[in-house]
Amino acid sequence: MNLKLWISCGVAALATSAAAQDSNALAVDGEALLTEAAAPLHMENVDTIYSGWRFRASETQALQSDDFDNPGMIFVDQAIDLWAKVDGSEGKSCASCHENVEDFAGLRPTLPRVEDGELVTMENIINECRTERMGAEPWKWSKGNMTAMTALIGLQSRGMPVNVAIDGDAAPFWEKGKELYYTRVGQLDMACSNCHEDNYGTMIRADHLSQGQINGFPTYRLKNAKLNSSHGRFKGCMKNIRATPFKEGGEEFKALELYLASRGEGLAVETPSVRN
Ligand code: HEC
Ligand code: HEC
Repeated sequence: MNLKLWISCGVAALATSAAAQDSNALAVDGEALLTEAAAPLHMENVDTIYSGWRFRASETQALQSDDFDNPGMIFVDQAIDLWAKVDGSEGKSCASCHENVEDFAGLRPTLPRVEDGELVTMENIINECRTERMGAEPWKWSKGNMTAMTALIGLQSRGMPVNVAIDGDAAPFWEKGKELYYTRVGQLDMACSNCHEDNYGTMIRADHLSQGQINGFPTYRLKNAKLNSSHGRFKGCMKNIRATPFKEGGEEFKALELYLASRGEGLAVETPSVRN
């Protein structure tokens, strides 16, 4: 079933509107963030890419423009405490080995990346430090301590353009992610592209459909009042089209994360962003 058919079944209402809103400029505490860029050459069907921020209502947008109003920052504060908290058999905290979290500036825009033939996300790196270097339990992908820490580390790169490697070692993972993006799945028989490439800018239920960019992750959602991982979001979208979601942290979602990151090449990191 295609999107228009699904909508005409009465599940949702479609109304065409401008591709993106007019209030274009995102500045957080005076620092301008790029929410629009020329699409990277590998995207054949789209000329301009937009951050999901551009599709949100002005009240939601405003929450992201001031760190005191951004509810995601509460979790960043929690991560600052976690940073210094000793955990595991080695009696170490993150701070025992990494002097300043600011040193991670520039890391977020380059992830996921390939290390020793494996595609590695920020969650993988953090858990490797926990299990291999601290003797601590790994954190669950979308649980509060993990999303808080990925937000704290991601925040150090806020404003920097997304810039992932997709050639060389990364190419097979990228190809796999691209294939998943365009493959129809679920009872509604839809692909990510059917919504986020073919129909962005339209209304789906009460939601203004975006390009499904991941430059703002982890994202604070008003809907569940917590930080959400990108894999958690992919899972939600798959459930919405009545597909069996892949596993968070699994090979499919990691490949999809790389491919989506590459579709946002040049957009500013907005972590932690605010969405509905
Ligand atoms: C026993 C020392 C040690 C502890 C404790 C530790 N790490 Fe690491 N971490 C390392 C080493 C060594 C590397 C790899 C070399 C590097 O890039 O600095 C690394 C790499 C990283 C990287 C990737 C850096 C990059 O630029 O590629 C991140 C992010 C990171 N650690 C986060 C954490 C977090 C978060 C914690 C606490 C939960 C933590 N680490 C605890 C030693 C440690
Ligand atoms: C039936 C339409 C539909 C399909 C198919 C769909 N999504 Fe979504 N998606 C949405 C809606 C609606 C939202 C919330 C509004 C928005 O940000 O676009 C959303 C949001 C997102 C976001 C959050 C964007 C942001 O700025 O925070 C991401 C990422 C995303 N989707 C990825 C995917 C991926 C990956 C797939 C394929 C596995 C997919 N979506 C399939 C409807 C869809």
